[in-house]
Amino acid sequence: MASGTSRDVIRRGLWVLGRAIREQPRIFAVAVAGSVLFGGLVIASAYVVGAVVGDVVVPAVEAGEVGTGTVALAAVALFGISVLRVVGIFGRRLGAGYMQFRLQAAYRRRVTRRYLDLPLAWHHRNATGTLLSNANSDVEAAWYPIAPLPFAVGTLVMLVGAVGSLFVTDWALALVGLAVFPALFALNVVYSRRMAPRQARAQRLRAEVSGIAHESFDGALVVKTMGREAQETARFAGRARELRDSLIAVGRLRGVFDPLLETLPSLGTLAVLVVGTVRLRQGAITVTELVSVAFLFTVLAFPVRAIGWVLAELPRSVAGWDRVSRVLDATGEMPYGEVTLDDAGPATLAFDGVHFGYEPAEAHLPGAQVLGEVAFTVPAGRTVALVGPTGAGKSTIASLAVRLVDPDAGTVTLDGVDVRRLTAASLASTAALVAQVPFVFDDTVRANISLDRPGIDDEDVWAALRLAEADGFVAALPDGLDTMVGERGTSLSGGQRQRLTLARALAGRPRLLVLDDATSAVDPRVEAAILAGLRAPAPGQPAAASILVVAYRRATIALADEVIYLEQGRVLARGTHAELLATVPGYVDLVTAYEQAEQERAENRTYDEVAPLPTGLEIEVDR
Ligand SMILES: Nc1ncnc2c1ncn2[C@@H]1O[C@H](COP(=O)(O)OP(=O)(O)OP(=O)(O)O)[C@@H](O)[C@H]1O
Ligand SMILES: [Mg+2]
Repeated sequence: MASGTSRDVIRRGLWVLGRAIREQPRIFAVAVAGSVLFGGLVIASAYVVGAVVGDVVVPAVEAGEVGTGTVALAAVALFGISVLRVVGIFGRRLGAGYMQFRLQAAYRRRVTRRYLDLPLAWHHRNATGTLLSNANSDVEAAWYPIAPLPFAVGTLVMLVGAVGSLFVTDWALALVGLAVFPALFALNVVYSRRMAPRQARAQRLRAEVSGIAHESFDGALVVKTMGREAQETARFAGRARELRDSLIAVGRLRGVFDPLLETLPSLGTLAVLVVGTVRLRQGAITVTELVSVAFLFTVLAFPVRAIGWVLAELPRSVAGWDRVSRVLDATGEMPYGEVTLDDAGPATLAFDGVHFGYEPAEAHLPGAQVLGEVAFTVPAGRTVALVGPTGAGKSTIASLAVRLVDPDAGTVTLDGVDVRRLTAASLASTAALVAQVPFVFDDTVRANISLDRPGIDDEDVWAALRLAEADGFVAALPDGLDTMVGERGTSLSGGQRQRLTLARALAGRPRLLVLDDATSAVDPRVEAAILAGLRAPAPGQPAAASILVVAYRRATIALADEVIYLEQGRVLARGTHAELLATVPGYVDLVTAYEQAEQERAENRTYDEVAPLPTGLEIEVDR
């Protein structure tokens, strides 16, 4: 079975190489030309050396003298060949390097571009560590054999030339060549077939090791606070050991085959000397010819290895290529429409008969339905609060509203237009989501808010910060807008991070703002102030955006024009806060329970920016 699959690997590996050549044909031609020049000169050098021995050295030994003209000619010929060989090597190396690194860069770009195009559902199914290794080590592995490829192609041409020249010289010596060269080739093929499964396994383990490392570092907080360092280290060590063993298996195979590949040409030289001496005695060849052929076998040994290098890297290349093309061929990206909405006033958001279920983790499992028959409207300029117990589907509705996912049935419309018909740019400028989990880039405050979007200057950034009640703490930062916030905003508090992401959404002046529990870590009074500010940015001004807000706090919900109460993916009730309090028992329970929890929390901790209570007071409160 192994040999069948590895034959397949060689075939597919050659196909991958063919693809590389099709993508970079000119550079490849330069590299192969350099390599063929080199190969031709290797053969030529053998014959020049033979001639030097036959026409210069032997006469010199026999007669004691040679004409200076002959010596000079031999010197010029050897020097000329060396110079041209340098040119050949230069062309080959440069061409191969260019080709390899250009392909790597191009495919890194394609893979990362693809990541951004693929839908969230795809990202949910694929671990970050795998994505990293796809863009790094898999791309590199796919194009590994490119480096020795021109050398190998030139060597093949050279071998044909060498056998041809052997036949011109003497058929008996040619037969030795015909026995040795194909044997070398066959040995190389066996080598790479044996190598195939080992390399594929090593490549897979490389990805797994980086995946585990990524996860533990990413979850460093959990790992440390839960005292899971030992288990995490053990999990990593286990896989790292497997990788080590698998790489040692690769090395062991190399240890067996490399010397064999080294020895075979030497045996060839030996055979040439034995056969050649007989032929010389028979008078079939001259000393010049014998020396040339013997020398030819010696100098051919090294280039022939290039074929082995390519074949040995093919399995790894195929494994890398498979993993890269799995990304490049992944489908499911959202096709955008052609419609651009007018950029005036707050937008109207409407859900109509929306059903939604996440794709199951494994294809054969049934996907559970998360939303059923969800219908509601956020009228232009109005604020609608979405309230419901955990897991009810609030974040899912938020994702649907800004089209991170599409509904299985029903429609989501903005200003009456199905969001699937909007262009990506129109969608992004119309609706903004402030997600439940804030994400902050390792960059300055300014860059985190403007995101390099055109037309957002410092004044807009400050205006957005004011609306998000974040101007105070940003002004107090050591470098103001230029302060670096650290990876994922580690230098900020949770509430500060939330307000930065809110300011980011506001800076784009969206016409619909979707706040998914976006101010939960902020002091309740500040949260209410933010929402009040958003509803009417300046006294007497109409609201700039319609707002869909996922909220729990009574003060926040009370500001909404309408409340939608959700349970298990269904809209159970809608109305004003007061109406729901009066009629929906589940709603009362939820809001009251949340309020109690908040009160307990407030007694035990302080929100950021609320000055810590003096110790004495704290004790009093506790009593
Ligand atoms: N990426 C996902 N893949 C599969 N199921 C998911 C995914 N995200 C959410 N779910 C499921 O969908 C349901 C609704 O989740 P959602 O995040 O919308 O709830 P929520 O109302 O926002 O809850 P919370 O108040 O805790 O934020 C839950 O049962 C959850 O397990
Ligand atoms: Mg949620």
